[in-house]
Amino acid sequence: MKTFIFFFGPPASGKGTQIELLMKKASFKIISIGKLLREERKKRSEIANLIKLHLDKGELVPDEIVELIIDKELKKIGANEKIIFDGFPRNQNQLTLLDNRLKKISSKDDKIYAIYVRIDSQEIKRRLGGRRSCECGSTYHIEFNAPKKTGVCDSCEKKLFTRADDNSRVISERIKIFQTEFGPIMSYWKKKNILIEINGEQDIKVVSADIENELRDLKIIK
Ligand code: AP5
Ligand code: MG
Ligand code: ZN
Repeated sequence: MKTFIFFFGPPASGKGTQIELLMKKASFKIISIGKLLREERKKRSEIANLIKLHLDKGELVPDEIVELIIDKELKKIGANEKIIFDGFPRNQNQLTLLDNRLKKISSKDDKIYAIYVRIDSQEIKRRLGGRRSCECGSTYHIEFNAPKKTGVCDSCEKKLFTRADDNSRVISERIKIFQTEFGPIMSYWKKKNILIEINGEQDIKVVSADIENELRDLKIIK
């Protein structure tokens, strides 16, 4: 039996932070499209240049590229794995892609859920201005989730950096895109009766406890 969990929510809702905390409770395979795209953009290739162009503007990367990434990752999934998707699907085309792929790779008794972490636009701006990221995937905030040593990752001791798309112009674009694409995706999860809504504006630990309680009820974690 496989488990699929889709983390969905606006920029800075805490998807990455919460997924990192969840990893301490159980072993999940994480498919974070944003992270995979940021890794891909570092390469010297035509695709890397195209990805950079979109990431730097805060726009969605073309669906064809996302499809290639998704298919590559889905091939690696084992029989009884628990998989978390961070930031997929993000538009109608990707919803259709997901539906097609799930038909092929999932079976009747698999668990499929979407976790929507809700926060408003004001809170997004407040959070992204202070976010600091690490190559290893850890995420911090200078005020709300500070590392033990300023500018250094607690887990791997590498130097923290500010993401290129965490500047006010690009943040506004990312919020706008989320608001445009949000409706159909929410309706889809609701219609399938698999939507779990979480109040993301609480303290990190409270949000985490809410998510854990939901997943415990569904027997996804112990
Ligand atoms: P992606 O990397 O997915 O970015 P995003 O969706 O904008 O979300 P973020 O990673 O910014 O926020 P988060 O929800 O993970 O919050 P975090 O935990 O870091 O995508 C980036 C780009 O890639 C997109 O713009 C697009 O170009 C492209 N892309 C990605 N997926 C794609 C797809 N499917 N198709 C096409 N293109 C795609 O937390 C944020 C900050 O807040 C941190 O500093 C954290 O410490 C702090 N914080 C977290 N929770 C709390 C809390 N409860 N209270 C106070 N502070 C908190
Ligand atoms: Mg993230
Ligand atoms: Zn690190």
